[in-house]
Amino acid sequence: MRPSLVSVSAAIWPLVAALETPAGHDGHDVDANGKYWIYGDGIAASFIQYGASVSNLIIEDKNGVPRDLVMGWDKASDYPADTTHPHLGGVPGRYANRIKNSTFEIDGKKYHVSANENPTKDHPDGLDTLHGGKDGWDWRDFDVVAHTKNSITFSIVDPDGKEGFPGEVISYVTYTLGDLTWDAKIVAIATTKKTPIMLSSHTYWNLDGFANDETDTIFNHTFHLPYSGQRVAVDNILIPTGEILNNRKGSVNDFWSAPKQIGHSFNDPEIHGNCGFNCTGYDNCWLVNRPPLHDWRADGAYVASLSSDWSGIRLEVYSDQDAFQLYSCNGQNGSFPLKSTQGVGSRATIGGESQSTRRDEKGHGNGHGKHGTVPQYGCVVLEVEDYIDGINNPEWGRLDKQVFGPGSDPYVLQFSYRFSVDK
Ligand SMILES: *[C@@H]1O[C@H](CO)[C@@H](O)[C@H](O)[C@H]1NC(C)=O
Ligand SMILES: *[C@@H]1O[C@H](CO)[C@@H](O)[C@H](O)[C@H]1NC(C)=O
Ligand SMILES: *[C@@H]1O[C@H](CO)[C@@H](O)[C@H](O)[C@H]1NC(C)=O
Ligand SMILES: *[C@@H]1O[C@H](CO)[C@@H](O)[C@H](O)[C@H]1NC(C)=O
Repeated sequence: MRPSLVSVSAAIWPLVAALETPAGHDGHDVDANGKYWIYGDGIAASFIQYGASVSNLIIEDKNGVPRDLVMGWDKASDYPADTTHPHLGGVPGRYANRIKNSTFEIDGKKYHVSANENPTKDHPDGLDTLHGGKDGWDWRDFDVVAHTKNSITFSIVDPDGKEGFPGEVISYVTYTLGDLTWDAKIVAIATTKKTPIMLSSHTYWNLDGFANDETDTIFNHTFHLPYSGQRVAVDNILIPTGEILNNRKGSVNDFWSAPKQIGHSFNDPEIHGNCGFNCTGYDNCWLVNRPPLHDWRADGAYVASLSSDWSGIRLEVYSDQDAFQLYSCNGQNGSFPLKSTQGVGSRATIGGESQSTRRDEKGHGNGHGKHGTVPQYGCVVLEVEDYIDGINNPEWGRLDKQVFGPGSDPYVLQFSYRFSVDK
């Protein structure tokens, strides 16, 4: 059952009335924290220019309590100040995930792009390129080109040669909220030279709004990848080896045969090393093997779903993309603070004003003994994408979907996140 607009209005909508008629959509309708808010039916979200990132996403749980479901910072200015840069909620670009050896070839010409992961003595910058390099798209401010009550459009111009990529790319990112939905349309045009483009959306989720008083992990979130019987094999630094693996029924990476709790296979020895050297958990790229002429928007044809009994919140991810990444926050270690809208006892509010009761009278957080931070496995990142490092594995047949030039079709990525609440 979806909550009615009326019930949502009662809890979080009073502030909307004031915000519905901002003083002109001329770029000044940004709140005191540097965030741009948009509103749908039963859903509100904020975005920031840095990375075109989602910063708050609020819906009511099964008890009518507003929950902020995404990890982030309270202020837009906190994002660039955070040097650990976990790619919070933005658009990684111009090439998401990893590029092996930070090199690729187009029409026989070899390109070297900026390395930024897995540094060694011989390669102080790193052995590979993650999410577009040291100054990839989600490290930069996008322009706001339009902002209406229920939508916002960002743009970025990525110059020729930036991070080593050939040619200029111009991209527009439009987010829209509807009836418990968050939709995105991302287009990118290579204006001057042939270049790889592969984008994604890198949002950290906890469907309990980081407020579950029984557990602070996502092990009890139920996950389903109905079209994903296969995945991309990776080496111990998560670089694709070129092999495609089968996710045997009942194995650690089987989320296709039936929905399964994310923690379900953590007793299986195969989970160790599943996300790289000495890493326990998920950071994998599953293929989305759909029948031809499939309509990605058709009801029930979601590529992934995630739900939590505690909040009753369910998310279905619809997308036109042919691969899907799940990262189970293996690298979180309790150092990242929750927002003031999150934590045990919190009530999320629009505009980010804190109504949190998670601090006790001594001012200590009571977030399940974790002092209001995100622990390991406290979140999941869901990423619609194409086959990772497809640019270096031409035998997969992805070059038409990953290499663009002035004469080609534009790059397009669309998704629709559809929420519902089981009461
Ligand atoms: C790896 O990168 C180095 C330095 O950029 C380059 O010289 C070498 O050719 C690359 N190796 C392969 C297999 O592409
Ligand atoms: C999580 O799920 C398991 C297995 O379904 C169940 O035994 C356990 O009680 C749940 N824990 C919480 C905190 O919901
Ligand atoms: C592997 O991980 C464990 C647990 O996090 C840690 O104690 C150990 O030092 C790690 N081993 C190596 C070789 O990094
Ligand atoms: C926790 O993770 C952060 C961000 O990656 C890192 O800067 C910090 O050193 C880590 N702390 C510990 C105790 O491992």
